[in-house]
Amino acid sequence: MLWWENRFLSVRGHKLFLGDSGASVIAEKYGTPLFVYSRAQILANYQRLRAAFAGQTDAEVRICYAMKANPHRRILKILRAADAWIDAVSPGEVQAALDAGFPPQKILFTGTSVSADDLRKVFSLDGLTVNVDAVEQLEIMTNVRDRWFKNKKIRVSVRWNPGVGRGFNSKVITAGKRSSDGTPIKFGIEEAKVLAAFEKASASGFKPVGLHQHLGSGWVKEDFPTVAGAVDKMILKASELRRKGFSLEFLDFGGGFGPRYIKEQKPFPVKQYGQYICRKVRRSGLKIRALAVEPGKFLVADGGVLLVRVEYMKESYGNLFACVNGGTFNTLPRPAIYAQACHEIINASRASGGWKVPVTVAGNLCETGDVFGKEIMMPVPKPGDILAILTAGAYARSMASNFNLRPIPREIII
Ligand code: LLP
Repeated sequence: MLWWENRFLSVRGHKLFLGDSGASVIAEKYGTPLFVYSRAQILANYQRLRAAFAGQTDAEVRICYAMKANPHRRILKILRAADAWIDAVSPGEVQAALDAGFPPQKILFTGTSVSADDLRKVFSLDGLTVNVDAVEQLEIMTNVRDRWFKNKKIRVSVRWNPGVGRGFNSKVITAGKRSSDGTPIKFGIEEAKVLAAFEKASASGFKPVGLHQHLGSGWVKEDFPTVAGAVDKMILKASELRRKGFSLEFLDFGGGFGPRYIKEQKPFPVKQYGQYICRKVRRSGLKIRALAVEPGKFLVADGGVLLVRVEYMKESYGNLFACVNGGTFNTLPRPAIYAQACHEIINASRASGGWKVPVTVAGNLCETGDVFGKEIMMPVPKPGDILAILTAGAYARSMASNFNLRPIPREIII
């Protein structure tokens, strides 16, 4: 079995299969570029995460899907039916979640730079929880509530910045004072202001129900000690809040645990993480009713592939290129945006074996960075071959644009 084979992807007779169909057959039928997502793999990821908490806690465990990863309506519906909650970051996402059948009670709205308009939309939904990103945001919230929703008790949680962050790239480290490249981190409320935020929320007539943190995205095994340290900090903070009279309904530890993008990555130990959270909360004596996590890429990344067709092979200055009929920015911008983003690329008609050489898979956009993979080891493709870019279920279609006026591909679910 190859390291990337799962409920969705398999190799049969050197050919790549997506579920029960050959990838080349699907590409022929629907055309390329094409996103293919797998219901079975997404559900398997969801169940694996549930299992990490199972039997470890009396608290309710809320798996809040970070729908920014992939807001496809059918994916939302699949997760809704599996009893997931939603992490939404804009009124547009909130609306898409409602359209897919999520009740407002299962939506946590975590905005940044939120406007009065944003708040007016989300405050109209009974039972939705608004995650506060700044003490200063509470003033706008109070004005909006007083103007349109007088006397409504709106549920709020506080997103704090525990002073430590973790992510695979400086652009997705979301806590700490500065990111690894020096960028000041805009998210959350600094430690010294957390209590004041709760007091202000309460004094302004909101109902504080939770504490939230999100450290960043794309954790692997090596990140565990830092992440565990942040879990400890969160529990200490919740204990301190309790001493000050704020008994919280939930603690939300955010998302961040990655899928495996390349063979060399050691996956983040999700089971150990679930057990760690439960054990620490249990030992703290906090009477927390619910524990939440907010996975995006863990649930959907390896449940999706992007299929592209090789138009021609090109050699220049000793570099070998497979020139394909899709562009990164229109499909899967991650490798073009983040230096550390890597995706395995598989030739659908020669998925295993064969003499391998370094091939750079180049897109059809006018930018040097428009490459899906640099010098990926694979048998030399032929014009007309279908290449599958793996782990394309998260932050691919949801970040795609029409750059160069190229269309965004179609998506199917099997
Ligand atoms: N919760 C909050 C508040 C978030 O901001 C995010 C992601 C998540 C949960 C989910 O994180 P995940 O489990 O997916 O790592 N475009 C980047 C990822 C950006 C993530 C931003 N926040 C990428 O392609 O890797």
